Amino acid sequence: MSNYVKIFDTTLRDGEQSPGATMTSAEKLEVARSLARMGVDIIEAGFPAASPDDLEAVRRIAVEVGNPPKAESDARVPVITGLARANKSDIDKAWEAVKDAQKPRIHTFLATSAIHMKHKLKMDPEEVVQRVSEMVAYARALCADVEFSPEDAGRSDPDFLYVVLGEAIKAGATTLNIPDTVGYTTPDEYFKLIDGIIKHTPGMHDGITVSVHCHDDLGMATANALAGIQAGARQAEVTINGIGERAGNTSLEEVVMTLKTRHPIFNLETGIETQQLSRVSKLVSNYTGIVVQPNKAIVGANAFAHEAGIHQDGMLKHQTTYEIMRPEDVGVNQTTLVMGKHSGRAALRSRLAIMGHSLDEAELDKAFARFKELADRKKVITDADLEAVIADEFYRPRDVFYLEGLQVSCGTLGMPTATVRLRGPDREVYNFASMGTGPVDATYKAIDAIIKTPCKLLEFNIHAITEGIDALGEVTVRIQSDSSGDTKMDAQSELEYARVYGGHGADTDIIVASAKAYINALNKLIIARTEGTQPVQNNFGVMLG
Ligand code: KIV
Ligand code: ZN
Repeated sequence: MSNYVKIFDTTLRDGEQSPGATMTSAEKLEVARSLARMGVDIIEAGFPAASPDDLEAVRRIAVEVGNPPKAESDARVPVITGLARANKSDIDKAWEAVKDAQKPRIHTFLATSAIHMKHKLKMDPEEVVQRVSEMVAYARALCADVEFSPEDAGRSDPDFLYVVLGEAIKAGATTLNIPDTVGYTTPDEYFKLIDGIIKHTPGMHDGITVSVHCHDDLGMATANALAGIQAGARQAEVTINGIGERAGNTSLEEVVMTLKTRHPIFNLETGIETQQLSRVSKLVSNYTGIVVQPNKAIVGANAFAHEAGIHQDGMLKHQTTYEIMRPEDVGVNQTTLVMGKHSGRAALRSRLAIMGHSLDEAELDKAFARFKELADRKKVITDADLEAVIADEFYRPRDVFYLEGLQVSCGTLGMPTATVRLRGPDREVYNFASMGTGPVDATYKAIDAIIKTPCKLLEFNIHAITEGIDALGEVTVRIQSDSSGDTKMDAQSELEYARVYGGHGADTDIIVASAKAYINALNKLIIARTEGTQPVQNNFGVMLG
């Protein structure tokens, strides 16, 4: 059996299903590029049947990320896959979306647990077996690489699973993914499930990859995935920061770093360049607005911080007393001085290239202008600062509204007041001044008065990117459309309104960063309404067409 575990990243599909993780197609493309650069073997780029926009986003990733211009080796070309329910229409759309990748895959699924078959599918077990056989064969006629997942396998009868999976192999599936869809199993149970599947599925052979896919409802996703790998699975389906439905999916960084740190136990390899983990984690957090909890394993802000005196004393004597991994192995603490006020355009280009951003001339001009502006206010500029500037400048959605100016007065002597100047989609400039309970409240009220798109601020987070008083402040927000007051809205529209949008902003001035993050999220909401499914409720929607 091979000692290589393929990393299948589903941040853009299962991860994007978590509330508020909605990303624009430019953001999705950048995440896919970063995953490919980091060495992910398979990228699940989305669910093409969900909407024409989703199909197009997967197609762009297949074309641009699935055909790297100068891949060092074939192994560095990622497989691009799209999810499809087990029906012809979904499978056709998935194929349409991935077919232009050098290595396309169709991933189809059907539930196999008694609960799902009876209540959700309303199908007999025999019908399920028949459908799997037909749809896997249909997908295989289109694409040589087909993955099948029996949804809710964690609660399915193992004997029934052997039959279904045997039929999937017969019909041409090459990867069998075993989802613990509701995060119900324990490591011991999941080990036995995978072991049983490998031993008892008819037709199982070395060319078939068994895959783990675990959800974290009971906090055991990583433990379960690793148990499945110990039982012989050689593909792990994971997401960055563990984002995903409900409590999330198995986190990529936890599986990869466990296999690396406890290598003597597992004796298994992955192709992930672990030094990029921290960077990609931040990127996904910024784009989704989903903040990583400080005590999150591997990528949390405190994962390598030592507070207790006894621990600090030990660390000073020897790093290994309290650290089982080196922070630099996951890309933390690579915030050494990289550039300053006197660094030139070429130095910026080369630093960005090392960080994996290849910008064209116009983009480099913009990045350089932002860099100089920052260098005037901050003495040393680190990789983390550059990353924030790049995210802020290039991977935000098309500007519907753009912050042109902001002036705030606050303190103990008067009412906090903000004057905001925005450029709108019609190129007009809008000014508004508001008072509030604090400078952010005043700023957001002024923005609301201009944009006129009712929304609720669900979450507001601010943190300093690096140490020091001149650090860049980074703000992430999550907002939700507010339909209260619209009595004409039907149930479907209300559901669409319930979508959550994340926004990100970075600046040395934290009120400016706050304004940018809020406008960023509002722009996503407005774009979704005017281009996608969301009903238009403001005056500007009609201008966007
Ligand atoms: O959790 C799950 O069952 C899934 C499948 C669709 C693969 O995400
Ligand atoms: Zn899942």
